[in-house]
Amino acid sequence: MNEQAKDFDKKPVEDLTKDEARAELAELYRRVGEADIKYHQEDEPEIPDDEYDRLKSRAKAIEDKFPELKSPNSRTDKVGAPPAQGFEKSTHLQPMLSLDNAFDEEDVREFDGRIRRFLGLTGSDDIHYTAEPKIDGLSISLTYRDGQLVKASTRGDGTTGEVVTENVLTIEGLPLSIPDAPELLELRGEVYMLHSDFAELNEVQKKAEKKLYANPRNAAAGSLRQIDSNVTRTRRLHFFAHGLGAVSGSFEKTNYRAMQRLVEAGFKISDQIARCSSVDQLLAHYRLIEQGRAELGFDIDGVVYKIDDVELQERLGTSSNAPRWAIAHKFPAETAWTWLDGIDIQIGRTGALSPVARLKPVTVGGVVVSNATLHNEDYIAGRSADGEPIRKSDLRVGDWVKVYRAGDVIPKIADVDLQKRSSDSVPYEFPNCCPICGSEAVRPEGDAVRRCTGDLTCRAQAIERIKHFVSRTALNIEGLGNQTIEQFAEEGLLKDAADIFLLEEKLGSGENRLAERDRWGELSAKNLFTEIRAKRSVTLGRLIFALGIRHVGAGVSDRLARHFGSWDKFTRVVNEARAMSGEAWDDLVSLEGVGKVIAESLVAAFDKFESIEFLERLGGHLEIKDFVETTQAGSAFSGKIVVFTGTLQNMTRAEAKSRAEQLGARISGSVSKNTDLVVAGDSAGSKAKKAADLGVEVIDEERWQQLLADKDSDRISESLSDDQPDESQDLPLLEG
Ligand code: IVH
Repeated sequence: MNEQAKDFDKKPVEDLTKDEARAELAELYRRVGEADIKYHQEDEPEIPDDEYDRLKSRAKAIEDKFPELKSPNSRTDKVGAPPAQGFEKSTHLQPMLSLDNAFDEEDVREFDGRIRRFLGLTGSDDIHYTAEPKIDGLSISLTYRDGQLVKASTRGDGTTGEVVTENVLTIEGLPLSIPDAPELLELRGEVYMLHSDFAELNEVQKKAEKKLYANPRNAAAGSLRQIDSNVTRTRRLHFFAHGLGAVSGSFEKTNYRAMQRLVEAGFKISDQIARCSSVDQLLAHYRLIEQGRAELGFDIDGVVYKIDDVELQERLGTSSNAPRWAIAHKFPAETAWTWLDGIDIQIGRTGALSPVARLKPVTVGGVVVSNATLHNEDYIAGRSADGEPIRKSDLRVGDWVKVYRAGDVIPKIADVDLQKRSSDSVPYEFPNCCPICGSEAVRPEGDAVRRCTGDLTCRAQAIERIKHFVSRTALNIEGLGNQTIEQFAEEGLLKDAADIFLLEEKLGSGENRLAERDRWGELSAKNLFTEIRAKRSVTLGRLIFALGIRHVGAGVSDRLARHFGSWDKFTRVVNEARAMSGEAWDDLVSLEGVGKVIAESLVAAFDKFESIEFLERLGGHLEIKDFVETTQAGSAFSGKIVVFTGTLQNMTRAEAKSRAEQLGARISGSVSKNTDLVVAGDSAGSKAKKAADLGVEVIDEERWQQLLADKDSDRISESLSDDQPDESQDLPLLEG
């Protein structure tokens, strides 16, 4: 961002010497190229349109004066960025999850406590962990079949990544085979670049007048996503193995042993991996790694703690996007001081007024920061939601503030220096109406957030909802970047997400052709329409998430999809639940992980959608795929509504619910005629009785354990053979 400020065109082109022209042109190419990529491929416009045009026309003027300096790759007479090149897509057999973070000792103790509670262990029971550095690179999944490397893919959205096998094969020393390996094995690890190679690469890039990489992580990512693997070959990439995805049969009983076995097969793992048997040992190892951080020669941003015992890992399972058995203990954030130049209010898709700090650009940990989140009005005032002071003072425009950022987290403000505050500064007055649509903005009692009441009439909310709808974890429509959405909305082409599917009709031909617009071309326009058409086919869970309903995140959406199975059933039940009583309402409220707040939010959203017939219009464009159980196809629990009641002796309630969900069950808190099975522990009361009255099957803990044990084998066998095992016959109890 700060680069924008550097003024190039002070000197008229006629007065430039050839050397000056060469230097300036190189810089202009770099900036235009970067802006193109950011705009079209990374959905992140970096510079304003007029600035972009200015850079491009200045480059053109220089090329005209010194034609011999014009690069064969010059993009001055082309529109649009090079197309986001297509790598083949591949679905991971086991999703690539993220990690929860711990920021201090307290968080680590809480992690250990959570695990013990979940497993029903006490403080004195032994639990072993491993601790190893968290490498700041990009994650990759390697698939080995019969011990041979057959595929390498990037993380992508966690479910589906891009196939980069050719490029990964250029990584020196990466074992292409694993002796005595199971039939199928997904190996997970990190691709990264050494500081020294990064510096050298940027030297080469600079000489060749090519784009410079901001940090080793971006350089590694850019190098791996080269279309030409010969280019990747020239970049010295490294691979570090840190875990396994799907594995057929069994591998090793502990993470530590599995890692040793990978070392025997020739893989690199961190030489700083340690086995620990207490939180204190974990913390001691953390400090050791932190102290040696500068000498490593590559970037790490924390230490990952993992439960060592694979069986315990399986028992703990995962929450919606992170394993319960691991955590990343992050290093303290990098900080820097700068001026708070202004406070802007952004409107979120649910109408939240979110204040954003505009900062004088400053480098924090190698990245230029010019914005920081201010959360809400209490945060600016220096109070937490319950009125406790969180800082020694409020924040005011013109203040000298300390900014921090940890990893990919959005920068925040840690502190303010009152010595430097000007005597005429005034407290910030938080607006009580929406700065975009002018509607009143209200803050309900007990809520930290003030919201615009414009709802469907607020343009800002509409735009944010569309951005969410196309985002990676929602419909994942690539090529429809934020700036494009804003522009289309401005022109009235996009009023809501359903309009996305009319874009081709409106812009594909005729006077308003997209291909003829500035920064677009035949190819990029065609790519966008093809992409939109491809994304008409969507799974139920993704679609529910894409609606952007308050409180309905990815985890809740998955649960709803699993529970209702089809779009028709989901929309019918929520519509019926709008009465806020009766069977549909009860069904929604008692669903595990839903409850009253979410049910109310769904109902409120549907009220609004109905007024503009949004769901009908949207549904008309889509091919919505019913929920398909992927966790345990053929499991006796798959698709069944299960209720737990009473006390289980061998397992905590949390573990039992998680296990059942992993086997495809839908958990409910109350018994109704829709319930398929009740697991009754000791002193099960009214629920077991109600089940008996309704004729719902009730099983005891012993039978529940038996069913689990039956299902504990062969988790991967289905992906190896196309035949789905029909196990229903083995489990007659759940039949009928
Ligand atoms: S274990 C479920 N160990 O960090 C994921 N991850 O923020 C278990 N990462 O996507 C991952 N170093 O790519 C693990 N030593 C390490 C790691 C590591 C880097 C990455 C990993 C993951 C990301 C999560």
